[in-house]
Amino acid sequence: MSKNNTYILAIESSCDDTAAAVLHNDKTLANVVAGQAVHEQYGGVVPELASRAHQQNIVPVVHEALRKANVKKEALNAVAFTSGPGLMGSLLVGTSFAKSLAMGLDIPLIDVNHMQAHILAHFIEEEGYDKPEFPFLAMTISGGHTQIVRVDSYFEMTVIGQTLDDAVGEAFDKSAKILGLPYPGGPLIDKYAQLGNPKAYKFTKPKVGELDFSFSGLKTAVLYFYQKEIAADPEFVDKNLNDICASIQYTIINILMDKLKKAVKQTGIKHVAIGGGVSANSGIRKALKEAEQKYGWKTFVPKFEYTTDNAAMIGIVGYLKYLEENLAETGYTDTQVMAQSRLKI
Ligand code: KG4
Ligand code: ZN
Repeated sequence: MSKNNTYILAIESSCDDTAAAVLHNDKTLANVVAGQAVHEQYGGVVPELASRAHQQNIVPVVHEALRKANVKKEALNAVAFTSGPGLMGSLLVGTSFAKSLAMGLDIPLIDVNHMQAHILAHFIEEEGYDKPEFPFLAMTISGGHTQIVRVDSYFEMTVIGQTLDDAVGEAFDKSAKILGLPYPGGPLIDKYAQLGNPKAYKFTKPKVGELDFSFSGLKTAVLYFYQKEIAADPEFVDKNLNDICASIQYTIINILMDKLKKAVKQTGIKHVAIGGGVSANSGIRKALKEAEQKYGWKTFVPKFEYTTDNAAMIGIVGYLKYLEENLAETGYTDTQVMAQSRLKI
Protein backbone atom coordinates (compact mmCIF):
# COMPACT_ATOMS: atom_id res chain seq x y z
CA MET A 1 0.00 0.00 0.00
CA SER A 2 2.24 2.82 -1.17
CA LYS A 3 1.26 6.38 -0.37
CA ASN A 4 1.77 7.23 -4.02
CA ASN A 5 -0.81 4.75 -5.06
CA THR A 6 -3.79 5.69 -2.98
CA TYR A 7 -7.41 5.22 -3.98
CA ILE A 8 -9.93 7.20 -1.96
CA LEU A 9 -13.70 7.07 -2.13
CA ALA A 10 -15.29 10.33 -1.00
CA ILE A 11 -18.88 11.05 -0.04
CA GLU A 12 -20.61 14.42 0.28
CA SER A 13 -24.19 14.80 1.54
CA SER A 14 -24.22 18.04 3.57
CA CYS A 15 -27.08 19.79 1.80
CA ASP A 16 -29.16 18.83 -1.23
CA ASP A 17 -26.61 17.11 -3.47
CA THR A 18 -25.71 13.46 -3.03
CA ALA A 19 -22.18 13.11 -4.35
CA ALA A 20 -19.47 10.46 -4.56
CA ALA A 21 -15.99 10.63 -6.08
CA VAL A 22 -13.01 8.36 -6.52
CA LEU A 23 -9.53 9.87 -6.46
CA HIS A 24 -6.21 8.28 -7.33
CA ASN A 25 -3.79 10.33 -5.22
CA ASP A 26 -4.66 13.97 -6.02
CA LYS A 27 -6.37 13.18 -9.34
CA THR A 28 -10.10 12.75 -9.84
CA LEU A 29 -11.09 9.51 -11.55
CA ALA A 30 -14.84 9.99 -11.13
CA ASN A 31 -16.96 12.80 -9.69
CA VAL A 32 -20.68 11.99 -9.60
CA VAL A 33 -23.36 14.37 -8.30
CA ALA A 34 -27.11 13.70 -8.03
CA GLY A 35 -29.05 16.89 -7.45
CA GLN A 36 -32.52 16.97 -5.90
CA ALA A 37 -35.18 18.59 -8.06
CA VAL A 38 -37.75 18.04 -5.30
CA HIS A 39 -36.81 21.38 -3.65
CA GLU A 40 -37.48 23.59 -6.70
CA GLN A 41 -41.18 23.93 -5.99
CA TYR A 42 -40.52 25.09 -2.40
CA GLY A 43 -38.05 27.86 -3.27
CA GLY A 44 -35.40 26.40 -0.96
CA VAL A 45 -34.05 23.17 0.51
CA VAL A 46 -36.53 21.23 2.68
CA PRO A 47 -34.31 19.32 5.18
CA GLU A 48 -36.61 16.31 5.65
CA LEU A 49 -37.01 15.81 1.88
CA ALA A 50 -33.25 16.24 1.38
CA SER A 51 -32.49 13.51 3.89
CA ARG A 52 -34.95 11.13 2.26
CA ALA A 53 -33.54 11.79 -1.21
CA HIS A 54 -29.99 11.16 0.06
CA GLN A 55 -31.11 7.77 1.33
CA GLN A 56 -32.46 6.91 -2.11
CA ASN A 57 -29.46 8.28 -4.01
CA ILE A 58 -26.45 7.24 -2.00
CA VAL A 59 -26.07 3.61 -3.13
CA PRO A 60 -26.53 4.27 -6.89
CA VAL A 61 -24.26 7.35 -6.74
CA VAL A 62 -21.42 5.44 -5.05
CA HIS A 63 -21.83 2.53 -7.51
CA GLU A 64 -21.69 4.95 -10.42
CA ALA A 65 -18.53 6.62 -9.10
CA LEU A 66 -16.73 3.28 -8.67
CA ARG A 67 -17.91 2.12 -12.10
CA LYS A 68 -16.78 5.32 -13.84
CA ALA A 69 -13.41 5.21 -12.07
CA ASN A 70 -13.09 1.52 -12.92
CA VAL A 71 -12.02 0.83 -9.34
CA LYS A 72 -13.28 -2.12 -7.28
CA LYS A 73 -14.22 -1.32 -3.69
CA GLU A 74 -11.61 -3.82 -2.47
CA ALA A 75 -8.92 -1.60 -4.05
CA LEU A 76 -9.87 1.42 -1.93
CA ASN A 77 -7.39 2.65 0.68
CA ALA A 78 -9.73 4.95 2.63
CA VAL A 79 -13.22 6.42 2.73
CA ALA A 80 -13.56 10.19 3.24
CA PHE A 81 -16.86 11.89 4.06
CA THR A 82 -18.27 15.29 4.98
CA SER A 83 -18.82 15.46 8.74
CA GLY A 84 -20.14 19.06 8.67
CA PRO A 85 -21.18 21.80 8.56
CA GLY A 86 -24.55 21.12 6.97
CA LEU A 87 -28.06 19.81 7.58
CA MET A 88 -28.03 17.17 10.29
CA GLY A 89 -30.42 14.74 8.57
CA SER A 90 -28.45 15.00 5.32
CA LEU A 91 -25.03 14.63 6.94
CA LEU A 92 -26.15 11.53 8.82
CA VAL A 93 -26.87 9.63 5.60
CA GLY A 94 -23.34 10.14 4.24
CA THR A 95 -21.75 9.60 7.65
CA SER A 96 -23.47 6.28 8.32
CA PHE A 97 -22.84 5.02 4.81
CA ALA A 98 -19.14 5.96 4.90
CA LYS A 99 -18.72 4.45 8.34
CA SER A 100 -20.26 1.09 7.43
CA LEU A 101 -18.31 0.85 4.18
CA ALA A 102 -14.95 1.66 5.84
CA MET A 103 -15.72 -0.78 8.64
CA GLY A 104 -16.68 -3.53 6.19
CA LEU A 105 -13.51 -3.03 4.15
CA ASP A 106 -11.35 -2.45 7.25
CA ILE A 107 -9.82 0.75 5.89
CA PRO A 108 -9.41 4.21 7.46
CA LEU A 109 -12.43 6.50 7.71
CA ILE A 110 -11.54 10.19 7.28
CA ASP A 111 -13.85 13.00 8.35
CA VAL A 112 -13.73 16.18 6.27
CA ASN A 113 -14.91 19.72 6.97
CA HIS A 114 -17.03 20.90 4.02
CA MET A 115 -15.74 24.50 4.13
CA GLN A 116 -12.11 23.37 4.24
CA ALA A 117 -12.91 21.18 1.25
CA HIS A 118 -14.23 24.12 -0.80
CA ILE A 119 -10.82 25.76 -0.21
CA LEU A 120 -8.62 22.69 -0.73
CA ALA A 121 -10.44 21.82 -3.97
CA HIS A 122 -7.73 24.01 -5.52
CA PHE A 123 -5.22 21.23 -4.81
CA ILE A 124 -6.90 18.66 -7.06
CA GLU A 125 -4.47 18.01 -9.91
CA GLU A 126 -6.04 19.40 -13.10
CA GLU A 127 -4.37 20.33 -16.35
CA GLY A 128 -4.41 24.08 -16.88
CA TYR A 129 -5.09 24.88 -13.20
CA ASP A 130 -2.33 26.23 -10.92
CA LYS A 131 -2.34 25.35 -7.24
CA PRO A 132 -2.06 28.31 -4.84
CA GLU A 133 1.07 28.73 -2.73
CA PHE A 134 0.87 29.39 1.01
CA PRO A 135 -0.09 31.76 2.45
CA PHE A 136 -3.12 32.75 0.40
CA LEU A 137 -6.56 34.21 1.01
CA ALA A 138 -9.64 32.15 0.23
CA MET A 139 -13.12 33.51 -0.08
CA THR A 140 -15.75 30.80 0.31
CA ILE A 141 -19.02 31.91 -1.19
CA SER A 142 -21.91 29.48 -1.17
CA GLY A 143 -25.56 29.03 -0.25
CA GLY A 144 -24.62 28.43 3.37
CA HIS A 145 -21.44 30.45 3.92
CA THR A 146 -19.59 33.63 3.13
CA GLN A 147 -16.12 33.77 4.63
CA ILE A 148 -12.69 35.19 4.01
CA VAL A 149 -10.06 32.77 5.26
CA ARG A 150 -6.32 33.15 5.65
CA VAL A 151 -4.75 29.85 4.62
CA ASP A 152 -1.22 29.23 5.97
CA SER A 153 -1.02 25.53 5.19
CA TYR A 154 -3.42 22.72 4.27
CA PHE A 155 -4.77 22.52 7.77
CA GLU A 156 -3.96 25.94 9.25
CA MET A 157 -6.84 28.21 8.34
CA THR A 158 -8.08 31.34 10.10
CA VAL A 159 -11.43 32.95 9.36
CA ILE A 160 -10.78 36.70 9.16
CA GLY A 161 -14.22 37.80 7.97
CA GLN A 162 -17.69 36.32 7.59
CA THR A 163 -21.34 37.07 7.12
CA LEU A 164 -23.35 38.25 10.09
CA ASP A 165 -26.65 37.08 8.58
CA ASP A 166 -27.48 35.61 5.13
CA ALA A 167 -24.87 33.93 2.96
CA VAL A 168 -24.16 35.43 -0.46
CA GLY A 169 -25.79 32.48 -2.25
CA GLU A 170 -28.94 33.16 -0.22
CA ALA A 171 -28.83 36.79 -1.36
CA PHE A 172 -28.85 35.53 -4.95
CA ASP A 173 -31.51 32.86 -4.32
CA LYS A 174 -33.85 35.05 -2.25
CA SER A 175 -33.64 37.93 -4.74
CA ALA A 176 -34.40 35.45 -7.52
CA LYS A 177 -37.39 34.11 -5.60
CA ILE A 178 -38.81 37.64 -5.25
CA LEU A 179 -38.49 37.99 -9.03
CA GLY A 180 -40.42 34.73 -9.48
CA LEU A 181 -37.42 32.62 -10.60
CA PRO A 182 -37.14 28.95 -9.48
CA TYR A 183 -34.66 27.68 -6.86
CA PRO A 184 -31.68 27.89 -6.93
CA GLY A 185 -31.90 31.29 -8.58
CA GLY A 186 -28.19 32.22 -8.44
CA PRO A 187 -27.28 30.71 -11.83
CA LEU A 188 -30.38 32.30 -13.42
CA ILE A 189 -29.57 35.77 -12.09
CA ASP A 190 -26.08 35.23 -13.52
CA LYS A 191 -27.52 34.20 -16.90
CA TYR A 192 -29.88 37.20 -17.24
CA ALA A 193 -27.31 39.61 -15.75
CA GLN A 194 -25.02 38.99 -18.69
CA LEU A 195 -27.63 40.54 -21.00
CA GLY A 196 -28.48 43.56 -18.84
CA ASN A 197 -27.22 46.95 -17.69
CA PRO A 198 -25.57 46.66 -14.24
CA LYS A 199 -26.17 50.33 -13.49
CA ALA A 200 -29.87 50.41 -14.40
CA TYR A 201 -31.01 50.29 -10.75
CA LYS A 202 -29.13 51.15 -7.61
CA PHE A 203 -29.20 49.05 -4.43
CA THR A 204 -27.34 50.40 -1.42
CA LYS A 205 -24.44 48.46 0.04
CA PRO A 206 -24.55 47.48 3.73
CA LYS A 207 -22.26 49.12 6.27
CA VAL A 208 -20.68 46.45 8.46
CA GLY A 209 -17.32 46.18 10.21
CA GLU A 210 -14.05 45.68 8.39
CA LEU A 211 -14.08 42.23 6.78
CA ASP A 212 -17.57 41.06 7.71
CA PHE A 213 -20.56 40.81 5.39
CA SER A 214 -24.29 41.37 5.67
CA PHE A 215 -26.79 40.42 2.97
CA SER A 216 -30.16 40.53 4.70
CA GLY A 217 -30.60 44.26 3.92
CA LEU A 218 -30.12 43.65 0.21
CA LYS A 219 -32.91 41.07 0.16
CA THR A 220 -35.25 43.59 1.82
CA ALA A 221 -34.15 46.32 -0.59
CA VAL A 222 -34.93 44.04 -3.56
CA LEU A 223 -38.35 43.23 -2.06
CA TYR A 224 -39.31 46.91 -1.55
CA PHE A 225 -38.03 47.77 -5.01
CA TYR A 226 -40.11 44.94 -6.50
CA GLN A 227 -43.28 45.91 -4.63
CA LYS A 228 -42.99 49.56 -5.65
CA GLU A 229 -42.31 48.89 -9.32
CA ILE A 230 -44.94 46.14 -9.65
CA ALA A 231 -47.58 48.46 -8.14
CA ALA A 232 -46.83 50.98 -10.92
CA ASP A 233 -46.52 48.40 -13.73
CA PRO A 234 -47.50 44.74 -13.20
CA GLU A 235 -45.26 43.71 -16.11
CA PHE A 236 -42.21 45.53 -14.77
CA VAL A 237 -40.18 42.38 -14.01
CA ASP A 238 -40.91 40.71 -17.35
CA LYS A 239 -39.93 43.84 -19.22
CA ASN A 240 -36.74 44.56 -17.27
CA LEU A 241 -35.53 41.17 -15.98
CA ASN A 242 -32.03 41.44 -17.51
CA ASP A 243 -31.39 44.91 -16.09
CA ILE A 244 -32.75 43.98 -12.64
CA CYS A 245 -30.56 40.86 -12.48
CA ALA A 246 -27.51 42.75 -13.74
CA SER A 247 -28.02 45.46 -11.09
CA ILE A 248 -28.45 42.94 -8.24
CA GLN A 249 -25.39 40.97 -9.35
CA TYR A 250 -23.34 44.17 -9.73
CA THR A 251 -24.19 45.16 -6.13
CA ILE A 252 -23.31 41.73 -4.73
CA ILE A 253 -20.01 41.49 -6.62
CA ASN A 254 -19.08 45.00 -5.47
CA ILE A 255 -19.69 44.01 -1.85
CA LEU A 256 -17.51 40.89 -2.22
CA MET A 257 -14.70 42.72 -4.02
CA ASP A 258 -14.65 45.61 -1.50
CA LYS A 259 -14.06 43.17 1.34
CA LEU A 260 -11.45 41.20 -0.58
CA LYS A 261 -9.53 44.41 -1.32
CA LYS A 262 -9.62 45.25 2.40
CA ALA A 263 -8.40 41.75 3.30
CA VAL A 264 -5.50 42.00 0.84
CA LYS A 265 -4.57 45.39 2.28
CA GLN A 266 -4.71 44.15 5.88
CA THR A 267 -2.74 40.95 5.34
CA GLY A 268 -0.44 41.98 2.49
CA ILE A 269 -1.34 38.68 0.79
CA LYS A 270 -2.11 39.13 -2.90
CA HIS A 271 -2.86 35.53 -3.76
CA VAL A 272 -6.61 35.09 -3.70
CA ALA A 273 -8.62 31.91 -4.29
CA ILE A 274 -12.39 31.51 -4.36
CA GLY A 275 -14.55 28.47 -3.72
CA GLY A 276 -18.17 27.48 -3.16
CA GLY A 277 -21.20 27.57 -5.44
CA VAL A 278 -21.13 31.31 -6.07
CA SER A 279 -17.58 31.08 -7.46
CA ALA A 280 -19.29 29.79 -10.62
CA ASN A 281 -20.65 33.32 -11.08
CA SER A 282 -19.41 35.10 -14.21
CA GLY A 283 -19.36 38.50 -12.46
CA ILE A 284 -16.98 37.46 -9.69
CA ARG A 285 -14.75 35.65 -12.17
CA LYS A 286 -14.51 38.78 -14.31
CA ALA A 287 -13.89 41.03 -11.29
CA LEU A 288 -11.01 38.82 -10.14
CA LYS A 289 -9.42 38.86 -13.60
CA GLU A 290 -9.61 42.65 -13.53
CA ALA A 291 -7.99 42.74 -10.08
CA GLU A 292 -5.05 40.76 -11.47
CA GLN A 293 -4.44 43.50 -14.03
CA LYS A 294 -5.24 46.42 -11.76
CA TYR A 295 -3.69 45.43 -8.43
CA GLY A 296 -1.21 42.70 -9.34
CA TRP A 297 -3.14 39.93 -7.57
CA LYS A 298 -2.78 36.30 -8.54
CA THR A 299 -6.21 34.70 -8.47
CA PHE A 300 -7.39 31.09 -8.44
CA VAL A 301 -10.82 30.06 -9.63
CA PRO A 302 -11.72 26.37 -9.41
CA LYS A 303 -12.68 24.24 -12.38
CA PHE A 304 -16.44 24.52 -12.85
CA GLU A 305 -17.26 21.02 -11.56
CA TYR A 306 -15.49 21.81 -8.26
CA THR A 307 -17.38 25.04 -7.51
CA THR A 308 -20.78 23.77 -6.35
CA ASP A 309 -21.01 20.90 -3.87
CA ASN A 310 -19.14 17.81 -5.04
CA ALA A 311 -17.28 14.88 -3.53
CA ALA A 312 -13.95 15.32 -5.33
CA MET A 313 -13.19 18.24 -2.99
CA ILE A 314 -13.90 15.93 -0.04
CA GLY A 315 -11.59 13.35 -1.63
CA ILE A 316 -8.62 15.72 -1.93
CA VAL A 317 -8.89 16.64 1.76
CA GLY A 318 -9.16 12.92 2.54
CA TYR A 319 -5.98 12.28 0.55
CA LEU A 320 -4.06 15.14 2.21
CA LYS A 321 -5.12 13.90 5.67
CA TYR A 322 -4.24 10.33 4.71
CA LEU A 323 -0.67 11.49 4.00
CA GLU A 324 -0.45 13.91 6.94
CA GLU A 325 -1.72 11.38 9.47
CA ASN A 326 0.17 8.46 7.98
CA LEU A 327 -2.93 6.34 7.64
CA ALA A 328 -1.45 3.92 5.12
CA GLU A 329 -0.60 1.44 7.85
CA THR A 330 -3.90 1.57 9.70
CA GLY A 331 -7.18 -0.21 9.16
CA TYR A 332 -10.61 0.92 10.31
CA THR A 333 -10.55 2.43 13.77
CA ASP A 334 -13.81 3.24 15.45
CA THR A 335 -13.13 6.89 16.10
CA GLN A 336 -15.81 9.13 17.53
CA VAL A 337 -16.43 10.53 14.06
CA MET A 338 -19.87 12.10 14.05
CA ALA A 339 -21.94 14.33 11.84
CA GLN A 340 -21.71 17.88 13.21
CA SER A 341 -24.09 20.40 11.72
CA ARG A 342 -22.24 23.43 13.13
CA LEU A 343 -18.65 22.43 12.49
CA LYS A 344 -16.29 25.44 12.21
CA ILE A 345 -12.95 25.74 10.48
O1 KG4 B 1 -21.53 25.38 -2.63
P1 KG4 B 1 -22.95 25.17 -2.99
O2 KG4 B 1 -23.26 24.20 -4.10
O3 KG4 B 1 -23.79 24.68 -1.76
C1 KG4 B 1 -23.60 25.18 -0.48
O4 KG4 B 1 -22.67 24.70 0.23
O5 KG4 B 1 -24.36 26.12 -0.16
O6 KG4 B 1 -23.58 26.59 -3.34
C2 KG4 B 1 -24.89 26.73 -3.80
C3 KG4 B 1 -25.16 28.22 -4.04
C4 KG4 B 1 -26.62 28.53 -4.34
O7 KG4 B 1 -27.02 29.62 -3.53
C5 KG4 B 1 -26.60 28.91 -5.82
O8 KG4 B 1 -27.60 29.82 -6.19
C6 KG4 B 1 -25.24 29.53 -5.93
O9 KG4 B 1 -24.40 28.71 -5.14
N1 KG4 B 1 -24.75 29.60 -7.32
C7 KG4 B 1 -24.59 30.75 -8.01
C8 KG4 B 1 -24.16 30.41 -9.30
N2 KG4 B 1 -24.05 29.05 -9.36
C9 KG4 B 1 -24.42 28.58 -8.13
N3 KG4 B 1 -24.80 32.03 -7.63
C10 KG4 B 1 -24.55 32.99 -8.54
N4 KG4 B 1 -24.12 32.74 -9.80
C11 KG4 B 1 -23.91 31.47 -10.22
N5 KG4 B 1 -23.49 31.24 -11.47
ZN1 ZN C 1 -20.80 23.95 -0.33
